Amino acid sequence: MAQIIDGKKLAEKLQKETAKQVNTLAEKEIYPGLVVLLVGENPASQIYVRNKERAAKKIGIHSEVKRYPESITETELIREIEQFNQSDEFHGILVQLPLPDHIDEEKVLLAINPLKDVDGFHPMNMGRLFAGMPHTIPCTPYGIMKMFEEYDIPLAGKQAVVIGRSNIVGKPMAILLLEADATVTLTHSKTKDLAKVASKADILVVAIGKGHFVTKEFVKPGAVVIDVGMNRNEDGKLIGDVKLDEVEPIASYITPVPGGVGPMTITTLMQQTVECCERQVLNHE
Ligand code: GUN
Repeated sequence: MAQIIDGKKLAEKLQKETAKQVNTLAEKEIYPGLVVLLVGENPASQIYVRNKERAAKKIGIHSEVKRYPESITETELIREIEQFNQSDEFHGILVQLPLPDHIDEEKVLLAINPLKDVDGFHPMNMGRLFAGMPHTIPCTPYGIMKMFEEYDIPLAGKQAVVIGRSNIVGKPMAILLLEADATVTLTHSKTKDLAKVASKADILVVAIGKGHFVTKEFVKPGAVVIDVGMNRNEDGKLIGDVKLDEVEPIASYITPVPGGVGPMTITTLMQQTVECCERQVLNHE
């Protein structure tokens, strides 16, 4: 039976450390600030944003959520971002995704000052990560790396399979695993014999966004299984991409949904807000 990786507990521990850092900065009259831009009424986004606000408050990070109507134009949104780029109050800027269809996500992400890009989605920060010179790192894969560290899960020389190739999770996850000396296979919707490829993995990270997609056929006995999925089933219940009841008996470690990856994403966001602040105010590298 797999050991459960308790993301909630680890998140609480790391958030306490970040709170201490925030206190130390406050002694120097430095107050990290995060602004979250939320466009429209996407229900999932509303929940994410509320959780981010709650965590920031607990840690003592100054945070504000700016809400904009679905009808805001791309130009108007970019103008808002440019104002926050200039502000001394906010060291981190996060534009909650997805954006409405009439707004070009790439243009919006390019408008964020890379030094304030707490999500690590700006091509400059993606490139830095790719080149092995990271500043900010996408929060979900970064949080997953911290889980491996906390649970002493070795990565060097292991076969890692990532399912899903998004800029937010899959691609940066593959790079981080590669940097940790794993042998990485990045799979996606066009991958042939996905279950067979996945079943070779010592480390399996699933970020495909399809509820209970990964069954026991995808999992090698003893594998470490990380479930990034956040899906609703017919009853409105939150479920992962992995069929936990089938996979838990054969895996060595597994993350639950909820209480696994989600809280870690928020935690790394808070840590990176503090790091961005230090980089801007103290000119840290
Ligand atoms: N939408 C889903 N996940 C994320 C995330 O990590 N950051 C942002 N900005 N939007 C998201």
